[in-house]
Amino acid sequence: MTIFELVKIALDELYKDAAKEYGAETDQKIIDQLDYLSQSYKGLSDPKRPPIDYGDPAVRFAYVFRYVAAHGDYIVQVLKYFRAEHGAVLPGPTARVSCIGGGPGSDVIAILKYLSDMGKHEKVEKLICYLLDGEQGWADAWTEFDESLESDVNLSPIFQKLDVSNFDSWQSQKKFLQADLFTMSYFVSEVMSQDGGGDVSAFWLKLFEEAKPGALFLYIDNGADLFNEYIDTLASKGGLKTLMSKNNRRFTPSFTEQASELSAYRKKFGQNPKLQAQLSFRVFEKA
Ligand SMILES: C[S@@+](CC[C@H](N)C(=O)[O-])C[C@H]1O[C@@H](n2cnc3c(N)ncnc32)[C@H](O)[C@@H]1O
Repeated sequence: MTIFELVKIALDELYKDAAKEYGAETDQKIIDQLDYLSQSYKGLSDPKRPPIDYGDPAVRFAYVFRYVAAHGDYIVQVLKYFRAEHGAVLPGPTARVSCIGGGPGSDVIAILKYLSDMGKHEKVEKLICYLLDGEQGWADAWTEFDESLESDVNLSPIFQKLDVSNFDSWQSQKKFLQADLFTMSYFVSEVMSQDGGGDVSAFWLKLFEEAKPGALFLYIDNGADLFNEYIDTLASKGGLKTLMSKNNRRFTPSFTEQASELSAYRKKFGQNPKLQAQLSFRVFEKA
């Protein structure tokens, strides 16, 4: 399956949610929210900006439509790049992945696509995937996602509400710390401005300190030095080793990916999913 086919499964569910709320107004609401998200992502480095609100089903649809396929594809490309230099990303036959800020599904879709492309070279039979996100609304799109999936990998998606800016929300959650791989895709830039009380940085340190030895951490973000330097400093404080580090690389989705899967939605909204980006990435390892 292509990433766009996987995204289409989620979008069809999200569209139903938005239509329940907005009826005949749904398409206009989604167009408005595509604009809300584009405007919001322009101000990520402003420490005083309000958090982006994903509570509206039209915002969630807009996010998945515009960003998930591209982000998923960038993750696949970085994982393949890592594999070429360092070997397998995940152990088999059972692997655990924790996707921090993974509610929209880019990260889980990427891991499934990566495993499907690797075939017998990286044989994972069962994938336990923790989707950790502050917005509960994302849960519905993923709880029965595995039912619609045609994949050799047996996926168990587990959604857990976790707000990294609120110590009480994460201090007692432990199970996700056992992951073999943690993904942080376009998440550090999203929450850095929420660190006024220090809980966000405390979360990163807890994660890095309590992860198991050998665990990998994949960071992908929009290229800005501000976010790269922040995560590099925390990773070093948390005792992580940097295995890969690249800044400001231009990425385009791979040629096998066809945005035409989403053509009905593209026509409706007169807009296209994101394709190219400048991004920075890291792979850290817990010693
Ligand atoms: C830009 S999206 C990134 C999603 C995905 N990883 C990707 O690459 O497309 C940021 C995600 O962070 C979540 N989020 C924002 N603030 C959060 C917080 N304080 N704690 C946990 N999740 C948060 C949002 O709900 C959203 O799903």
